[in-house]
Amino acid sequence: MIALRRVGDADCDVLAALHAECFPDDPWNSEAMREVLAMPGTFGIIALDVACAEPRGFLLAQSAPGHCEILGLGVRETARRRGLGRMLLNRVLAIAAAGRHTVFLEVAEDNPAARALYAAAGLAIVGRRPGYYRRGDGSRVAALQLRLDCAEA
Ligand SMILES: CC(C)(COP(=O)(O)OP(=O)(O)OC[C@H]1O[C@@H](n2cnc3c(N)ncnc32)[C@H](O)[C@@H]1OP(=O)(O)O)[C@@H](O)C(=O)NCCC(=O)NCCS
Repeated sequence: MIALRRVGDADCDVLAALHAECFPDDPWNSEAMREVLAMPGTFGIIALDVACAEPRGFLLAQSAPGHCEILGLGVRETARRRGLGRMLLNRVLAIAAAGRHTVFLEVAEDNPAARALYAAAGLAIVGRRPGYYRRGDGSRVAALQLRLDCAEA
């Protein structure tokens, strides 16, 4: 069983390990996580395997009045395609809906898994930044800018 819980101050190392596994081309270390979590309006959610209390995925977001940006979403490779990414995304969309926020995020154009996840949740492409992400091999790929206007049901 998977449980979602809010990120706390003591989670920087856990988040850094998850981020490094999910984003090997651009890992954020513990110090970077500390800085991100210290930014106003930043919050995070961790998906935990309840049976072993092991973290399986995370989501980081930053909210401001009327606005919520997803800064990062990742699920450990061994836990993918079991609904955790959708679960984390749905949780932040519910938070955004309660605050009547518009959700924004950026996703690499060559990331079909994440694009399918976001498209299914209703996020629409509203922009494109050519060459935005740099890959480990030095190549560059465009970022797609996505948006969803959330309102409480
Ligand atoms: C993107 C990511 C978070 C998805 O997490 P996940 O837990 O595997 O996703 P889910 O199991 O919740 O899948 C939800 C939906 O997303 C889509 N999806 C997920 N993985 C997919 C894949 N490999 N190929 C195609 N569609 C995929 C499907 O529509 C899926 O629904 P379905 O299983 O009913 O077909 C995960 O692949 C990941 O961590 N990737 C590396 C980091 C990353 O790219 N993060 C996003 C950056 S913006």
